[in-house]
Amino acid sequence: MPRTAVPASHLPHSGIREIVDLALGSSSPMIRLEIGEPDFPTPAHIIDAAFEAARKKTSYVQTAGIPVLREAISERLAGDYGLRAPIERVLISHGAVQAVDAVMAAVVAAGDEVLIPDPAWPNYEMQATLLGAVPVRYGLRPEDAFQPDLAEIRALVTPRTRVIVINSPSNPTGAVMPAETVAAIVDFAVSRDILVISDEVYDEMVFDGGHTTAAALAPQHVVSVFSFSKTYAMTGWRVGYALVPSWLADTVVRILELQSSCVSSVTQAAALAAITGPQEIVGEMRDAYRRRRDLAVGILAGAGTEIVRPHGAFYLMLPLPGDIDARSAALELVAHGVSFAPGTAFGRQTPHHLRVSLAAADETIREGLGRFLTWRDARLTLPTGSGVSVRGA
Ligand SMILES: Cc1ncc(COP(=O)(O)O)c(C=O)c1O
Repeated sequence: MPRTAVPASHLPHSGIREIVDLALGSSSPMIRLEIGEPDFPTPAHIIDAAFEAARKKTSYVQTAGIPVLREAISERLAGDYGLRAPIERVLISHGAVQAVDAVMAAVVAAGDEVLIPDPAWPNYEMQATLLGAVPVRYGLRPEDAFQPDLAEIRALVTPRTRVIVINSPSNPTGAVMPAETVAAIVDFAVSRDILVISDEVYDEMVFDGGHTTAAALAPQHVVSVFSFSKTYAMTGWRVGYALVPSWLADTVVRILELQSSCVSSVTQAAALAAITGPQEIVGEMRDAYRRRRDLAVGILAGAGTEIVRPHGAFYLMLPLPGDIDARSAALELVAHGVSFAPGTAFGRQTPHHLRVSLAAADETIREGLGRFLTWRDARLTLPTGSGVSVRGA
């Protein structure tokens, strides 16, 4: 039998998928708080634009994306972030997933090292592994409000380090990096001639303060990756984009060509309608996620659970009492009618946390956290008089 390539055979299984499969297969009604996707429908004008494009002739289009969409993105980056980038540096991808993948494939070779946050969205480690590279994790610890420690990053860099991945707002923690932290990491990367891949797919979901685009700080050392998935509730449409250094653009385009030829012309028409159409919906969704964050923080604080308050994205890390292992807890909770993603799915720093997705209706959040608290109280004797306690507020 032909054998699997060694790096591919080392790909880890997704610890989130295990819970998703159980939740989907459950015969009793399940409160789903494990999945990270907007619960809003894609706005109607975006869907209409796709229908219109599909009725006209569809075709292969430019690998880097249709120029009119790249132009609109370039204008958006200038308007929102004062970032002036020619469209040659704006590449459309099949979701942010493909942008991260193609950029890594362009710069990382077998044996290279890639610095990745811990906890983090699992794809970074998987992509580095598939390329035969060595994923090296830097900690985002609850006691530091899930912020990176620059000294640790410095200490982990070796002559083999090719990429430092950063992600703000963060999946899974909801932490938002202060502008000074982003600048310090980018400055350090520039000083060592390392590429930063800055995953900014939740850039429109910052609740308190603003978002810092890393690409604005060092255009030749940073790739900033964005997505329509979260901003416009378009996960199923599969369209994202990257702002890449000019020296890297052509190589990434050649990889995109190999991977998918181009992003669907229908999807790109929808993305164009999204980015050039009414933007109030973006703010409305952000307000809803903020309200849900406040609701969840309030419920947990009221129950004496100490959490790090998230400032963006739509996630919250829920600490488990005692030493309960996150995977066992997530499995037990599924049996209890509520599903969360275990912290173990995102790295090694959060073995006793569950990720709560706040991309759910208020009532679902209330009911899901209620079930969690009932389970917790039944499983453990709680310390008394813990009161309200929210760190990083
Ligand atoms: C941090 C992060 N980056 C990238 C993605 C992928 O986004 P897309 O749907 O654009 O591929 C996700 C999806 O959950 C994510 O959480």
